[in-house]
Amino acid sequence: MIPGQAGGLNVPPLKTDTACVHGTQLFDPLTGAVSVPIYQSATFRHPRLGESTGFDYSRAINPTRSALEETVALLEHGKHGLAFATGMGAVSSILKIFSPKKDAPVHFIVSEDLYGGTYRLFNEYYAAYGFEFSWVDTSDIAKVEAALRHETRALYIETPSNPMMKVTDIKRCADLIHRHGALLIVDNTFLTPYFQTPLGLGADFVLHSGSKYLAGHNDTLAGFIVHSGEDYDIPLREAQKSEGATLSPLDSWLTLRGIKTLALRMEKHQSNGKIVAHWLKNHAKVEKVFYTGFEDHPQHSLSAAQSRGHNGMISFYLKDSRDVEKVLQKVNLILFAESLGGVESLITYPLVQTHGAIPEAMRLAAGVNEKLLRLSVGIENPEDIIADLDRALNFP
Ligand SMILES: Cc1ncc(COP(=O)(O)O)c(C=O)c1O
Repeated sequence: MIPGQAGGLNVPPLKTDTACVHGTQLFDPLTGAVSVPIYQSATFRHPRLGESTGFDYSRAINPTRSALEETVALLEHGKHGLAFATGMGAVSSILKIFSPKKDAPVHFIVSEDLYGGTYRLFNEYYAAYGFEFSWVDTSDIAKVEAALRHETRALYIETPSNPMMKVTDIKRCADLIHRHGALLIVDNTFLTPYFQTPLGLGADFVLHSGSKYLAGHNDTLAGFIVHSGEDYDIPLREAQKSEGATLSPLDSWLTLRGIKTLALRMEKHQSNGKIVAHWLKNHAKVEKVFYTGFEDHPQHSLSAAQSRGHNGMISFYLKDSRDVEKVLQKVNLILFAESLGGVESLITYPLVQTHGAIPEAMRLAAGVNEKLLRLSVGIENPEDIIADLDRALNFP
């Protein structure tokens, strides 16, 4: 259930699947169009000096992007949403509200098992600007507590983690970091607001790679920040406008269209994921399967308490690392490609793809080794997905 009144809609609070379909506006007030128009305009005419329609230049504000930003904020139970050209645009922009001073670094505690591009951005770029990062297994709250420093300003988590599917306790992390006077940032890409709403569990900011489940069709890149903190809205909008990594009108519309079916897709990703994970678990060539929906997943009860379901993400170790190449060559329906969360099933080799930027020792400590494959189960018929995996794993 979405709390409060959906902006622009004169109806009672909406259920999440309804909010996905309609966002914050049922129709375009000007024309009655049921699909938000694509305002493909770089600039907007001013009626006269000192007057504005509310729109001036699309890097700063665009009506299609605003409709999307309001929709994602509504779904995440936040007051403010900001859309960026990519997920990395959103991740980079959130760091702009923390300013390191001379001799006073900004320290972040970060999930060690997270998207490799985020690791690269933090470690190779922001580290040069006075940021310090501690990489921690955030599924263990004692390790998070032990990493706290006087200058810790934020805890940055992905849950479930990528690619090892560890679950971090959002509420305990929020309580801990708030007692320390710092902020909690949650990358919610993997579960989407359909299955998990971190702001309600105490997070200060939610981030997304909208390129994944939100847009959902492997055809669009997008990123989001959602929050409810009045103090941060102006600095974040300034960063968004000044750096210019804003989402285009067409990509905003594509993402809005994707979100309309988010509820249906997430249900199908969940049911397909469950079938495929159980099938893989019993396969002779598979050593171990990492999937949050297993009852023997180490954080199964936490997952049930803080989330409303499971995605279609499965990682697994093959028994023999030499089989990895054969599997990647033999899959046919399942595409060997880097990404996740779209309608098409994709298989990824994290060691060289998504997590190639992470140093070997850290990667291995997190469990990302040469035997690990990651599967993003799409919405095809699960029998076809399994038949493809069966063929790919069927060699002497
Ligand atoms: C969890 C997560 N966060 C952020 C990103 C970055 O998003 P984008 O590729 O849209 O820049 C990704 C990309 O794979 C991701 O998986």
